[in-house]
Amino acid sequence: MLKDTILNLLNEQVNLEYYSSNLYLQMSSWFSYHGLDGCAQFMSEHAMEEREHMTRLFNYITETGGYVKLGQIPAPKTEWESHAEIFEDTLEHECLITSKINNLAKAAFDQADFSTFNFLQWYVGEQHEEEQLFRSILDKVKLLGDDKKGLYFIDKEVGALAKGEAPAAEPQ
Ligand code: FEO
Repeated sequence: MLKDTILNLLNEQVNLEYYSSNLYLQMSSWFSYHGLDGCAQFMSEHAMEEREHMTRLFNYITETGGYVKLGQIPAPKTEWESHAEIFEDTLEHECLITSKINNLAKAAFDQADFSTFNFLQWYVGEQHEEEQLFRSILDKVKLLGDDKKGLYFIDKEVGALAKGEAPAAEPQ
């Protein structure tokens, strides 16, 4: 049985993962609208991943006899100046999610809820990977620049990540 404090934090995380999914879907639309189809595909797939993160939490709460409360999901930001700004936002957002997961894991540990603490280890590992992924994309975005050639190659590079392909060659 989940303690109320842990249940509330898990429910907050459900809603936050839902928000993450909407945020990345919105970013996918921005990329499509600006002709960056590789980035759009990557963001669309990542939105689905966030939905899976939400479902995993949803199922854990349900299996543990808790009641899921889907709250109001705030509208994501819709305007960005550049693809670089979007990738800066993704890294910042993932760092926020990491801090929330860490707070949740600490609360579970402090309350001796070792089942939840153990469940959260998957998210701890996942956040490590996600921060690394978005940091590496942002590094490439800065390296390739924002002229047309840079945009072309970053779109190929990120698009290849979406399909699990080898990264495209960098411009000479
Ligand atoms: Fe569910 Fe990208 O963190």
